[in-house]
Amino acid sequence: MRRPSLILATAAALGTAAIATAAVKPETAIAYRQAGYTMLGWNFGPMAQMVRGKTPWDAAEFARRAERVALIAPQLLEGFPEGSDTGATTEAKPDIWKNMDDFKLKMDDLVKQSKLLADAAKSGDEARMKEQFKQTAGTCKACHDKYRSED
Ligand code: HEC
Repeated sequence: MRRPSLILATAAALGTAAIATAAVKPETAIAYRQAGYTMLGWNFGPMAQMVRGKTPWDAAEFARRAERVALIAPQLLEGFPEGSDTGATTEAKPDIWKNMDDFKLKMDDLVKQSKLLADAAKSGDEARMKEQFKQTAGTCKACHDKYRSED
């Protein structure tokens, strides 16, 4: 009768994230992260248009999209398990897995800045929202410049 509880305890100790990513196929992880970034870009694009004055400013629309970005951002790191540098067409550079600590820091920056963006959006202060949008966009660029190959 002791065994099942021991197994459960071990599973709990390992943590669900470790178990989930260990079993995942590289092509599934690649599809997952690309879907996540596509959703990020889907919401970020219209915000950028507003910030640049290409479309009319709409604070409620901006806030709705900022909320989504802040929800998606913390889910992206899971899409980069060890071994998922190949397995499907990917723009993720192998350097990510050689510099995982630095990559995680860059991901943390996105998470933090997008949280601040959602907070700024709640304030309804247009100047603050625009400024925080630029800070957040800077975290996209900082990571893409180093870890994404766009051709
Ligand atoms: C910590 C690193 C990092 C951050 C931060 C980051 N990206 Fe990316 N992004 C990547 C990598 C790596 C890829 C390539 C993924 C692949 O092809 O497997 C990518 C791909 C993308 C894609 C293409 C998805 C596809 O396959 O069609 C879009 C769009 C995108 N990112 C938008 C954004 C936006 C917008 C932000 C900021 C709000 C952002 N990214 C922040 C690393 C990052």
